[in-house]
Amino acid sequence: MNKDIKTILLSEKQIDDIVTRLAADIDRDYADKRLVLVSILKGSVMFTAALMGKIQTNAEIEFMKVSSYGSQTKSTGCISVLLDLKREDLAELDLLIVEDIVDSGRTLNLLTGLLRERGAKSVRTVTMLDKPERREVSFTPDYIGAEIPDEFVVGFGLDYDEKYRNLPYVGVLHPDVYTK
Ligand code: IMP
Ligand code: MG
Repeated sequence: MNKDIKTILLSEKQIDDIVTRLAADIDRDYADKRLVLVSILKGSVMFTAALMGKIQTNAEIEFMKVSSYGSQTKSTGCISVLLDLKREDLAELDLLIVEDIVDSGRTLNLLTGLLRERGAKSVRTVTMLDKPERREVSFTPDYIGAEIPDEFVVGFGLDYDEKYRNLPYVGVLHPDVYTK
């Protein structure tokens, strides 16, 4: 195990089980839809790739990149779109935003609002992790991999200061790493 990780929250096997369940739910709900997975860079790349590998419905993929400004371990209410989704046919598309983790809820609240306002046929969200205790705006993802307690986690795409994204599991970061 990486020395900066205090405990493993989700093992590779647990993540695989979560992804299998979510893919089955998505297949069930999108059988007759024009599914477009909208992966939010960078945190959701590993989760998106795993999910794509298990979804059997025809699916397209797009990427968006947003940034929230603030300290490394907290997100603020302000997001800016750094890479946008440019599609002329939004009105025909059933967008499923793929996110790594929902914390305050602000990112997905703003993104779903934006894409609905632009006229997408439907907009839903799937998140690998949810920290419901941290919610600052009322937002409920449509598909949730796992609810986790209020602890800063890294791995399987999630970073601290751009590190630890490549860990194959999700772990709690040792507080020494961000307090020293
Ligand atoms: P929200 O807008 O507060 O819901 O923020 C969601 C974003 O905050 C995620 O996409 C992550 O980039 C980041 N984030 C929130 N909690 C964690 C965490 O525990 N580890 C790593 N990134 C996190
Ligand atoms: Mg992030």
